[in-house]
Amino acid sequence: MKIMECETYEELSQTAASIVGDTIKKNSGAVLGLATGGTPEGTYRELIRLHQTENLSFQNVTTVNLDEYAGLSSDDPNSYHHYMNHRFFQHIDSQPSRHFIPNGHADDLESECRRYEQLVKSLGGTDIQLLGIGRNGHIGFNEPGTPFQSRTHIVTLNEQTRQANARYFSSIDSVPTQALTMGIQTILSSKRILLLISGKSKAEAAKKLLEGDISEDFPASALHLHTDVTVLMDREAASLRH
Ligand code: F6R
Repeated sequence: MKIMECETYEELSQTAASIVGDTIKKNSGAVLGLATGGTPEGTYRELIRLHQTENLSFQNVTTVNLDEYAGLSSDDPNSYHHYMNHRFFQHIDSQPSRHFIPNGHADDLESECRRYEQLVKSLGGTDIQLLGIGRNGHIGFNEPGTPFQSRTHIVTLNEQTRQANARYFSSIDSVPTQALTMGIQTILSSKRILLLISGKSKAEAAKKLLEGDISEDFPASALHLHTDVTVLMDREAASLRH
């Protein structure tokens, strides 16, 4: 696991975008594994800037998102489909037919999970997977206790995660109780993983990841089992290290 400490969130975002940009420059048809939430917003802003001012093209790129809420249609403003369209896809030249996000509105969510897992496999896995981390160590929506062998599955969101995500909804009651997420094994099948950790509220999780045991009680610890993981942390996130 390679650790890179950045001074600020802006520096972290620029570094992440430049790593993703280099992946695309080396392979214009790269498969990017993408995340939502607050942490990667700066990375998307910086990738858009690279597209607009430095001709970084996403024309041949395929994108595969980690997760989606169950029960929200793709045009629901709180869906991850909406997040990705508005914060990233609308501003770049990628092909909508090559954007993949689990369908949280499918009639049969179990079969949607199987379809999504098969899709990721058929793409040969992702070339680089962008990840954030929850305060409880979740990656994607894989909450503590999720088996490391898990593939794309339905999860019941725990209260802490619903509370953390309630800031995007009108009230905690409108936060869905379930989601579809790539499993831990699906995430580990990526060729390279880029984990972003930002802010004081994540310092405890960062310390646990870097200094704690590998355990299903702390899902992000599974990343120690992968051979090409880069962790980008800002100063606040790194404040409890050592
Ligand atoms: C988002 C995702 C989640 C977030 C995590 C951190 O697609 O899979 O694991 O990365 O909840 O969220 P933020 O960045 O909002 O703190």
